[in-house]
Amino acid sequence: MAASLPSAAVLGARAFAALEGLNRFSDEPGKLTRLYLSPAHRQAAEWTKGAMEVAGLTAFIDAAGSVQGRREGPVPGGPSVMIGSHIDTVKDGGRFDGNLGVVAGILVAQALRDAGIVLPFALEVVAFGDEENVRFPTHLSTSGALAGDYDPAWLEARDAEGVRLSDALLAFGGDPSGIAALARKRGSVTAYLELHIEQGPVLEVENEPVGIVTAINAQRKARIHVAGEAGHAGTVPMALRKDALTASAEMALAVEAIASAYEQAVGTVGVFQVNPGATNVVPGSVAFTIDIRCPRNEPLAVMAAAIEARFGEIAQRRGVGLTITPYAKADAVPMDPALQDALSLGIARTGVNPAPRRLPSGAGHDAMAMAALCPSAMLFVRNEKGISHSPLEAMTEADAGIAIRALLETVLELARREG
Ligand code: GLV
Ligand code: MN
Ligand code: MN
Repeated sequence: MAASLPSAAVLGARAFAALEGLNRFSDEPGKLTRLYLSPAHRQAAEWTKGAMEVAGLTAFIDAAGSVQGRREGPVPGGPSVMIGSHIDTVKDGGRFDGNLGVVAGILVAQALRDAGIVLPFALEVVAFGDEENVRFPTHLSTSGALAGDYDPAWLEARDAEGVRLSDALLAFGGDPSGIAALARKRGSVTAYLELHIEQGPVLEVENEPVGIVTAINAQRKARIHVAGEAGHAGTVPMALRKDALTASAEMALAVEAIASAYEQAVGTVGVFQVNPGATNVVPGSVAFTIDIRCPRNEPLAVMAAAIEARFGEIAQRRGVGLTITPYAKADAVPMDPALQDALSLGIARTGVNPAPRRLPSGAGHDAMAMAALCPSAMLFVRNEKGISHSPLEAMTEADAGIAIRALLETVLELARREG
């Protein structure tokens, strides 16, 4: 006789135990830092592949470094429902961002296998590797590879140490020449589901353990280079300086001011490198990044143009050189309405809320890339104090369990719809 499905409490406990296993792998001791194609990423990918196999999936690490696991449905090679998220992290990141979604997918596969449930479609679980886009100037490159939207120029991109992405991929055990073949055919994945920590405070404020994402905000990113003139800090008169740092600081403040002027928009300067970086040298050059986001595409375009114009004006007034290199431009992505409704039913079946909260996502996700391939939807889990991209990121085991049980119920709902 088939076993029953695990309760939310059991799934929550399993998820937290699995996260302990996965999060042992870090590039920095005492912190969780797992950048795309790093040694810790490789170890985490191997661990994930092993966990997928234990859950009854056939698994491999693909050419771009993602871990793909699959259990066939009635027709070998037939259409699948895919559950995914990522196992790369930001520097000194949180335990749940991405990792929880991968672990959730594996636990759903395991629970279905253990219960002897046969689905009318294949089930896939994918652990993407380049969602945070921290190491290289890419944008969702590993999920983009599956969605058939991989920019070959990314292979030439370099990290802060000057390592080329293609060389890092080869060192990882990947295959730059195999990336094009990762693109899935339209119709081969009928639904993409991603469970993720909210990374914001809405669900906590409204006392909801889980919520459904309506759309993912538009975003643009660019690398900026400001070229001033290095000189002696004791001898170059103030009026004659071309200080790259003070010019860049004024630009960073302009990003803050412009983003603050647009409703629901945000703007961040997250990287700021000063050269040569000595106490007694007027800064000769600065490299920094900008990341701007907004729920709608049009205001974001206007904001980007305003920032560019203000940067140009600052550079001219201060006599410094300015290079703006945009590297990511993603429009807002609505989530699939029918899949949102399936998630809603899945949540209702956990007994939590018959009409779950629906909310947009300010953070980017692999679902953004996957939505170009197939109907996609996301389930958010309540986040303590809304803190994310930080070691303080937290959630309760109980909430994680409810979310995973809701995901499991959603897969069963999709099976019912096919049956
Ligand atoms: C990823 O977390 C992003 O939104 O940048
Ligand atoms: Mn994430
Ligand atoms: Mn993140």
